[in-house]
Amino acid sequence: MAWTLQGGSSGQICWRMLLITVCLHTVMVTEGALKQEGALESGSALINHSMALVQRLEALFAQGNGSDVALRVHTANSDEVKVIQAHTLVLSLQSEAFEDLLQSRNSSVLTLREAPDCAAVFEKFIRYLYCGEISLRLEQAVPLHKLASKYRVSALQHGLSVYMTQHLASDSPGGHVVGWYQYATQTGDVALRDSCLQYLAWNLSSVLHSREWASLSEELLLSLLQRSDLILHSELELYEALEAWITQNQPGGPTVESALRSIRYGMIPPQQLFRLQKQSPLMLKYYESVRDLLFLAFQFHSASPIQLAKYFDVNCSIFTPRNYLSPAWGSQWVINNPTRDDRSTSFQTQLGPSGHDASKKVTWNALFSPRWLPLSMRSAYAESSAMLATRAAASDGTGHPRIIVTPATSSADFAGVSFQKTVIVSARQQGKPVVRHVYNFHQSTEETGDFLADADLQRRASEYLIDSSLYLHIVVKPLYHSLIVARK
Ligand SMILES: *[C@@H]1O[C@H](CO)[C@@H](O)[C@H](O)[C@H]1NC(C)=O
Ligand SMILES: *[C@@H]1O[C@H](CO)[C@@H](O)[C@H](O)[C@H]1NC(C)=O
Ligand SMILES: *[C@@H]1O[C@H](CO)[C@@H](O)[C@H](O)[C@H]1NC(C)=O
Ligand SMILES: *[C@@H]1O[C@H](CO)[C@@H](O)[C@H](O)[C@H]1NC(C)=O
Ligand SMILES: *[C@@H]1O[C@H](CO)[C@@H](O)[C@H](O)[C@H]1NC(C)=O
Repeated sequence: MAWTLQGGSSGQICWRMLLITVCLHTVMVTEGALKQEGALESGSALINHSMALVQRLEALFAQGNGSDVALRVHTANSDEVKVIQAHTLVLSLQSEAFEDLLQSRNSSVLTLREAPDCAAVFEKFIRYLYCGEISLRLEQAVPLHKLASKYRVSALQHGLSVYMTQHLASDSPGGHVVGWYQYATQTGDVALRDSCLQYLAWNLSSVLHSREWASLSEELLLSLLQRSDLILHSELELYEALEAWITQNQPGGPTVESALRSIRYGMIPPQQLFRLQKQSPLMLKYYESVRDLLFLAFQFHSASPIQLAKYFDVNCSIFTPRNYLSPAWGSQWVINNPTRDDRSTSFQTQLGPSGHDASKKVTWNALFSPRWLPLSMRSAYAESSAMLATRAAASDGTGHPRIIVTPATSSADFAGVSFQKTVIVSARQQGKPVVRHVYNFHQSTEETGDFLADADLQRRASEYLIDSSLYLHIVVKPLYHSLIVARK
């Protein structure tokens, strides 16, 4: 049996013949595979030539034998026309949109119009319809997604969204995440949009220093500036990047004002604020728009936040830290072979970002347990043969990872301040470390309920192990909210 159909212009006959051919092929070659959906009957064997079938379909596309429709693809705003010999059966099978177009056509030619970026990948797209496989580069993802959406090929559409979600950290000369974010927003792909937004927020230091930063839309810039989960070196870094963005994009006054008012001035040391106030051209120009915030920030720096809170509402964003990676706020913690045993570390942070507190240090002890058992489960084991049982349970994965962070000394200075701990966990994506989780808690990751729940650190190939190490960064954030309650 072979593909012996000759090209005929009469679509109907050809369509049927092709259908029969494909059906026979399927029945004869992959009968087992179809039945196998349930289970291979006992005593029966499987002959599987599905790979060869795909190769023949690919050859059919490449050589155009038995074609019953020619696709004339016009590139918009150009004279360029590409002609692809195709088969109505395959097109209709894979795409509802093609099925409709082919039913209502008059001739053996179907004329299509595509934007230049889509026209450039059109052949790749049609080839996918024949063999269900596609290779692509970063910049081809959006045009292919547009085609998959237009011709309603939902499997490809979904596959491309997943591809984009998994390639956010890939290198590209001009950056691609901002473009993908904009595309996802336009098309209403909420999952992709949110992945892009979270990636930008969690990798902000890289983004601020990339060429991509200047290409952010106003809307995206303002929405990022509102977030408390941004991961970056310091608030000053964000201010400087904002200044660069404004210089390049020259937005209107209201946008500049609202962007400038989203900077958390309380988180910038007073020495730096003096400098900005006198030397930043942006600040000089818009001083009046942020004067009240600067005044509040200087008040914050001048005394203990506890004093401030007696008179002012300190539950506002300018006193709320983001996830700062600079050493004053926390420490990186790389744990080699994390499943081996419990580990501990200690590090120092400032008591708080206020100028009054920044020079006072707090020492923190952090303890990581790879297979910690909650008390309730532990008592059950204690009743049986204590130690052995616990160990067995722990090594068969019953326990789960936990981190607790406690101050080495307690001090009267802590009164009224609650320290929120944030653990940032990186994992490998396409060979690169990318922030995968951010966990917030006060003392123990038990509070979050799902700490490293899907990490499977036992597995050597776990994406959470980078050179057999778990990459963590702990940030300690003094929050003054509880002070407000104390005042009332
Ligand atoms: C048949 O072979 C293909 C390609 O080698 C493979 O992907 C598929 O899983 C096989 N099918 C069965 C039922 O084993
Ligand atoms: C297409 O036709 C050519 C010549 O007619 C033949 O050599 C080739 O094997 C055919 N291709 C397929 C996929 O049947
Ligand atoms: C079919 O052909 C007629 C006359 O040639 C034309 O008016 C009509 O628009 C065509 N329809 C389609 C769907 O191409
Ligand atoms: C941040 O983005 C860069 C590329 O822009 C990538 O190489 C790096 O792995 C990313 N890091 C994180 C923590 O996501
Ligand atoms: C602080 O403000 C946030 C949001 O504005 C609010 O959700 C929270 O309940 C406030 N906390 C206190 C203690 O007032």
